[in-house]
Amino acid sequence: MNHFLDIHTTAPDDLRAMLDMARQMKDARNGLPKGTLDADQPLKGQMVALIFEKPSTRTRVSFDVGVRQLGGQTMVLSGSDMQLGHGETIADTARVLSRYVDLIMIRTFEEETLLEMAEYASVPVINGLTNRTHPCQIMADIMTYEEHRGPIKGKKVVWSGDGNNVCASFLHAAGQLGFDVTFTGPKQLDPEAEWIELARSKGSNIEIERDPVKAVQGADLIVTDTWVSMHDPESAKERRHNQLRGYQVNEALMAQAKPDALFMHCLPAHRNDEATSAVMDGPHSVIFDEAENRLHAQKAVMRWCLGK
Ligand code: CP
Ligand code: NVA
Repeated sequence: MNHFLDIHTTAPDDLRAMLDMARQMKDARNGLPKGTLDADQPLKGQMVALIFEKPSTRTRVSFDVGVRQLGGQTMVLSGSDMQLGHGETIADTARVLSRYVDLIMIRTFEEETLLEMAEYASVPVINGLTNRTHPCQIMADIMTYEEHRGPIKGKKVVWSGDGNNVCASFLHAAGQLGFDVTFTGPKQLDPEAEWIELARSKGSNIEIERDPVKAVQGADLIVTDTWVSMHDPESAKERRHNQLRGYQVNEALMAQAKPDALFMHCLPAHRNDEATSAVMDGPHSVIFDEAENRLHAQKAVMRWCLGK
């Protein structure tokens, strides 16, 4: 049994095996109606709990559809409707759920909640986003980059904006899969130093460049995300906008990257804040491929977790 808690705690060979599996499963479904079941049904007879303590569109739907395509069944649970939200401990919740279901996916606030769930569950636990990381998103993003441009190893990824949870998982992937990351944003919103050092210790070139135009020179991929994440206080909004306005990904910035650079955003986006619609809907953008690939990548993650 494997938990999928973070990219830096998953072996590079395992990440590669999951990406290969995702690719094969996507190819095998080419052109089939979305409700068509996969031929091999590896999750037949399995029950999966999808727990959300924060809102979600992509994670909720892609996991739900993915489990069904693999032949399993799902229950989608809102944290606030569970006793979890009313004082029952994570450890007890984990032990109880393990008696009913074969796999748990949880989107939560504190990383400690995820880790405690994994420690006490006797079934695999998948990280569907915490305040600190979002590994399933980055599995889909690596898959997306590679289907358009080939191996990501040695490429230059530029993250523009808030050094948040999605940025953290990009840094983890850089260290595990051998690519470089330049962060451009205000100092107050730098990614955690721990993640920068970890990626550097594995040989990745991680740079911080305050000037976005300098940062994107030679970029193979430019990535951004919402300026205010779900765990950030609403009161941060105005300050964030003032801090980040200069880091908007627009056509002028995109034009400074390599001519074949891709643009990614995990979505949901605030159009014309962190990125303009011209970029999001433009020729460099692969944002909807990223969204689709959540489905294929997570199916591979679930199979790996269950040894299927
Ligand atoms: N990108 C992503 O995780 O989207 P949702 O919040 O809609 O799940
Ligand atoms: N950084 C965003 C990602 C949403 C998928 C958030 O945590 O709200």
